[in-house]
Amino acid sequence: MKGLVFTEFTSMVEEKFGEDMVDDLIDESEPESGGAYTAVGTYNHQELVDMVVLLSDKVSVPVPDLIRTFGHHLAVVFASKFPEFFAEVDNTLDFLKKIDNHIHVEVRKLYPDAELPVFKFDDSVEGEFKLVYSSERGFGDLALGLIEGVSKFFSEPFNIKRSDSQEGSLHITEFVLSKSA
Ligand code: HEM
Repeated sequence: MKGLVFTEFTSMVEEKFGEDMVDDLIDESEPESGGAYTAVGTYNHQELVDMVVLLSDKVSVPVPDLIRTFGHHLAVVFASKFPEFFAEVDNTLDFLKKIDNHIHVEVRKLYPDAELPVFKFDDSVEGEFKLVYSSERGFGDLALGLIEGVSKFFSEPFNIKRSDSQEGSLHITEFVLSKSA
């Protein structure tokens, strides 16, 4: 997983829980990489998971909630680091439609070794937008946080129904968005 994700995670932890917490997580999770994360490096995504599990224990917040909150944080970071993706559409659903065939394609050009999920969408049912996440990594909670973050960016609230399944090593999360009244 790209270092950018790690550096943003540690900066969120620092902001919410203080610098000592970041040091404790790195010391106690004993990451194979040593934990001196830089935005341009690439690290095993398990190191992030290990830190989140430790943090969950320390602050008594469930792991999925922490990962979802990290998704909100990342959406804000992406909006400032990659403003062009947010400027070329004017609503949440048009943005989400472009993750797989445009945004992550550009991300792959910037970071050829990025490990990216696959997103498929279905907008054939009136009033419903279905987005299906699949990845070997199982970051459905991160996807949820990012979707919520993007909908906040465009100031469009949605009801989001979510269901999870697994096919072999693939984690699949289906999100159904509908406009909230
Ligand atoms: C401007 C918008 C976006 C940018 C620049 C972006 C960029 C990235 C980058 C750099 C990674 C890390 C790849 C790696 O670690 O190797 C990533 C992973 C990921 N992205 Fe995006 N992304 C964007 C929007 C989104 C949105 C809106 C979603 C969710 C609906 C999403 C879902 C994910 C997930 C869940 C991962 C984790 C990897 C995995 O689950 O396999 N991204 N993205």
